[in-house]
Amino acid sequence: MARITPDQIRQMKARGERIPMLTAYDYPTAKLLDAAGVPMLLVGDTLGMVVLGYDSTLPVTMDDILRHTQAVVRGAEHALVIADLPFGTFQITPEETLRQVIRVMKEAGPQAVKLEGGVRSAASVRLIVEAGVPVMGHVGLTPQSVNATGGFKVQGKTEAAARALLADVAALEEAGVFAIVLELVPAELAQLITERTSVPTIGIGAGPHCDGEVQVLHDILGLYPDFTPRHTKRYAELGTALRDAAAAYMDEVRHRTFPTTKQSATIDPTVMEALRRDA
Ligand code: KIV
Repeated sequence: MARITPDQIRQMKARGERIPMLTAYDYPTAKLLDAAGVPMLLVGDTLGMVVLGYDSTLPVTMDDILRHTQAVVRGAEHALVIADLPFGTFQITPEETLRQVIRVMKEAGPQAVKLEGGVRSAASVRLIVEAGVPVMGHVGLTPQSVNATGGFKVQGKTEAAARALLADVAALEEAGVFAIVLELVPAELAQLITERTSVPTIGIGAGPHCDGEVQVLHDILGLYPDFTPRHTKRYAELGTALRDAAAAYMDEVRHRTFPTTKQSATIDPTVMEALRRDA
């Protein structure tokens, strides 16, 4: 099976086929998610929170994104891998943003990049797309602006805010994005946006009417102990499984039931006899 392309993602919207996407941050999970057939894997800057333990995505660096994208690219043969641009890499000028994107493409090898912001990021998006790099947009709640939004709050609730969101989506569509993440947007507004734009919308906390859905892998697996967003759903309890496995392991080590000869290598008994005679 060949790798999924941005065009195929667009065609999925045209056919009315839903588009699932998950975050991935390392080689083994990327390989497993790829084998499960997840069409798009996002190396999100949420890695700062769910993997590195920061309380926001702001401290994530380009080196963090590079290292984790390299691992995901090594694990994913078929999925379209998207690298998130971290805070500070696309806020200065479009030219500087393009320099950062070129670095990601050369050093980590994803098939696309994602950056936050609508109207404010459109000039950068246009330049990146013109350079031949597919771009995913991200509007609604943009977590890198958490200090301006005053927390992880639903966006677009007033008429003015909803109109601003529609303008953001139109600016990104015009700039050439192949898909747009809508984060924490009222479901009815996400539906209107999805109907009005030809670009596939990928919701998170944006209701059931987007063209696709993205979730943070650690949230759906129960692997992030600090916080469970309202918009997520647990599909496994791997946090509990991990704690149980660690407890069982410690118990067996303490009671000398692990390791056994089954997990051990042996040596020729005559060698051991010779060594013991020396003592
Ligand atoms: O960084 C991330 O994981 C994201 C998703 C929540 C869309 O941006």
